[in-house]
Amino acid sequence: MPKTVVLVYSGGLDTSVCIPMMREDYGFERVVTVTVDVGLPPEELKQAEEKARLLGTEHYTIDAKNEFVTDYIFPAIKANGDYQGYPISTSIARPLIALKAVEVARLIGGTDAFCHGCTGKGNDQFRIEFVMRALMPDVPIIAPMREKTLTRSWEIEYAERKGIPIGQSKEKIWSIDENLWGRSIEGGRLEEPDYAPPEEIFKWTVDPKKAPDTPTEITLEFENGVPVGLDGKRMSGLELIQQVHKIAGANGVGRVDIMEDRLIGLKVRENYECPAAKTIIPAHQALEALVCTKEERAFKVLVDQKWGELAYAGLWYDPFKDDLEAFINQIQPRVTGTVNLRLFKGSCTVIGRASKYALYNEDLASFDSRTFDQSEAVGIVKTHGMQARMWRTVMDK
Ligand code: ARG
Repeated sequence: MPKTVVLVYSGGLDTSVCIPMMREDYGFERVVTVTVDVGLPPEELKQAEEKARLLGTEHYTIDAKNEFVTDYIFPAIKANGDYQGYPISTSIARPLIALKAVEVARLIGGTDAFCHGCTGKGNDQFRIEFVMRALMPDVPIIAPMREKTLTRSWEIEYAERKGIPIGQSKEKIWSIDENLWGRSIEGGRLEEPDYAPPEEIFKWTVDPKKAPDTPTEITLEFENGVPVGLDGKRMSGLELIQQVHKIAGANGVGRVDIMEDRLIGLKVRENYECPAAKTIIPAHQALEALVCTKEERAFKVLVDQKWGELAYAGLWYDPFKDDLEAFINQIQPRVTGTVNLRLFKGSCTVIGRASKYALYNEDLASFDSRTFDQSEAVGIVKTHGMQARMWRTVMDK
């Protein structure tokens, strides 16, 4: 059996450099590259395939877009998936990418090692390696960028020496990761907390200043906590996300600029574009607010936060995640109905919501109704804050 390594391959500089390195420095005879399509730009996918062919690897491209939607984005919507203001997107794609690498390893048999191009500073190493180790604990994992602490300029020089086409790698100053749910832009001066992001980093959202002067209104339909229709038309999750992405992006909705606490403890400035997530999640929250009780809402915020932390960490098979999802999923059948949204110059505002499970009763709440006998409130109001009032008298003594 030839010594075999399965490489998680994006076609970018880091993972391309890994190919000759696996052969020459680590002694692998068979390099298997796996590119997982979770909504990559088609030209990037093609480039990855061409490069793999040129470098003579055994290459697999796996279309995982629908699986990404149903098994990763949908659970994220149900949990209002967020970490420190970032609607987690890269985070939830990594476990799926690692899963596909494992599936390829199982399919081909005789895998001696996995390889990935993550550095030792980021989060992706945690997410990818957790899944690999959880599913194939005996296969060692090699991370050359981390092991050798390689710099970008060294990699470019090495790539040129090894005849790896690097395209515009030299001019590319930003590190970008894209999938159906979001786009992250890092690196260069963007890491400085007080550096205003230049307009050129954005690709999916128009500058809110230049967005249309008239608002766009849309209606999202939800069933069982996930979006199933847009403006009265039913469609697949994938199609719906792609459509909302376009409409929201055209209105400048979805830019996120935060300070993020990485798993390793580093505090880093991060920029994201997530037009679909920044539209669909607020709509989902608005519907939950209509159908859940006060206690459920308060508790779900905590559950969602914990879910977001686990998903950010890539702990996709943690039993605690299943526990949290048991609560989340118990609520979701009621999260069924419609939400109207107004998209306007970078903002997304909920302007209406309706559900057959609404806990709202017009007759009870309305100022004009007599159904609720207001005189009954007198006694309730009198006892309100009784202990707090008692505390004041005790303190005054
Ligand atoms: N900080 C984000 C996360 O951990 C995005 C990472 C994106 N990676 C990249 N190579 N640009 O989910």
